Amino acid sequence: MSLKIFGTALACLLVAACSGKSGGGETAVVAGNATHGKELYAQCQACHKLTENFVGPHHCGLIGRAAGSVPDFEYSEAMKASGITWTPKTLDEFLTSPIAYVSGTKMGFAGFDAASDRADVIAWLVQVNADPAACPKS
Ligand code: HEC
Repeated sequence: MSLKIFGTALACLLVAACSGKSGGGETAVVAGNATHGKELYAQCQACHKLTENFVGPHHCGLIGRAAGSVPDFEYSEAMKASGITWTPKTLDEFLTSPIAYVSGTKMGFAGFDAASDRADVIAWLVQVNADPAACPKS
């Protein structure tokens, strides 16, 4: 199942064809540079770890996960009620402006203005989620 989800996520990343929450036509996800994305991810690491919850929920397993669904993390009501599934498309919209996409989120990060930065960090998240060394399947 996780393999299939990864395949779908990768296809979305490459062809920008997956459907998301808002369906706006202008936020096509372009294929990102995971190496640059890893550098950008340092900003996320102020609050996120891959395998453990920290200020924010852990990021292993993120791709294909329902928003607000890590059982032992205390999410905002807004995130739990958002109905989002995390794909490259929804991540692109969220990371444009977290507070605009999920009104009431407690994620204190302003977002990336540059679509290329969003694509790069998403490419890194997809890659790291597929790497058993970084994200072991428990
Ligand atoms: C200042 C701390 C902080 C920073 C920096 C931050 N986050 Fe978050 N993040 C959070 C918190 C807190 C939540 C939980 C939000 C809620 O419940 O409303 C969250 C939630 C998320 C979620 C939803 C996860 C889920 O399980 O539903 C994603 C995706 C996410 N963050 C990605 C990122 C990425 C990618 C970056 C870097 C570009 C980042 N965050 C930077 C604190 C942060």
